[in-house]
Amino acid sequence: MINSRIAGTGSYLPTKILSNKVLETMVDTTDEWIFTRTGIRQRHISSSDEMTSDLAAHAAKKAIASAGINAADIDLIIVATTTPDKVFPSVATMVQQKLGISNNCPALDMQAVCSGFVYGLSTADNFIKAGANKCVLVVGADTMSKITDYTDRGNCILWGDGAGAVILQTSQEPGVISTHLHANGNYEAMLHVPRNAEGPDTIAMEGNAVFKMAVNTLDQIVDETLAANNMQKSDIDWLVPHQANIRILKATAKKLNMAMDKVVVTVDKHGNTSAASIPLALDVAVQDGRIKRGDVILMEAFGGGFTWGSALVKY
Ligand code: UT7
Repeated sequence: MINSRIAGTGSYLPTKILSNKVLETMVDTTDEWIFTRTGIRQRHISSSDEMTSDLAAHAAKKAIASAGINAADIDLIIVATTTPDKVFPSVATMVQQKLGISNNCPALDMQAVCSGFVYGLSTADNFIKAGANKCVLVVGADTMSKITDYTDRGNCILWGDGAGAVILQTSQEPGVISTHLHANGNYEAMLHVPRNAEGPDTIAMEGNAVFKMAVNTLDQIVDETLAANNMQKSDIDWLVPHQANIRILKATAKKLNMAMDKVVVTVDKHGNTSAASIPLALDVAVQDGRIKRGDVILMEAFGGGFTWGSALVKY
């Protein structure tokens, strides 16, 4: 059987930082409230001429270097994003152009909001396992600040911009062990960006209700993933979760009987970067040497739709 493995990782954050202290001057909030309720201290914000495809291309270049491949080796590009530069064409085709890939490989965007990277990784894994592709670039990239209403203290304190990428390649040994994807469109209105006559509006979220749904749903996906692989909680070396709120991360860690030092936490520095948060966190922990080859990683995410999913990966 053909397997897929993560051959390299990369990430990119815009240089401008928006701290809680500065947010205090923009809306009726405090650093203390934000940190206590979310675990966030700061987030990175793209400049007005810095688009999702720019962030994605930067992260992709680092993943390509880390995997030791040439951009021309890539035979499929998947970009998970909810903040494309344009209505069309896809961010993926813009990344293809920015990387100078001229081999006519397919390129597509995946829209599953905060679960987008897990959806993209699962799709890439299945394409490789089906024999259709050998070397896939999977990017999670979002510029959430561009769809954030900075007068709405209920959610503007959460969002950040960034990108993370992996190169997924064929391998003899299992890398991506299993992926699990779900959606329930009945919850559309609890977390969405409506479109009006002028174009897309800004994020509207019933924060507390989404929080409770996220905790319960992630609880279930942990059980589903372990049961599907006949594995125990103790078999997981690292939790690399979507970074929405430190309290959600702690709830999932508790479910796994996992100490917080086995959870990769970036929400304090990055905020919620939507589809970018998991590959960003993965790259941070690979770069600083915490995650090593052979480690078993559980990735999980929950987002608008609702969508949710997990990926169990041997790095
Ligand atoms: O990534 C995709 C999925 N998204 C998520 O998972 C996000 C999930 N939701 C959350 O992370 C949290 O619900 C929030 C951080 C958005 C809000 O935290 P919360 O603990 O659920 O607060 P709340 O909405 O229940 O509000 C509690 C109080 C309210 O005041 P009263 O009614 O108790 O007087 C709010 O008006 O906190 C107030 N509040 C704030 N106060 C200071 C809400 N936002 C703020 C703020 N600063 N920024």
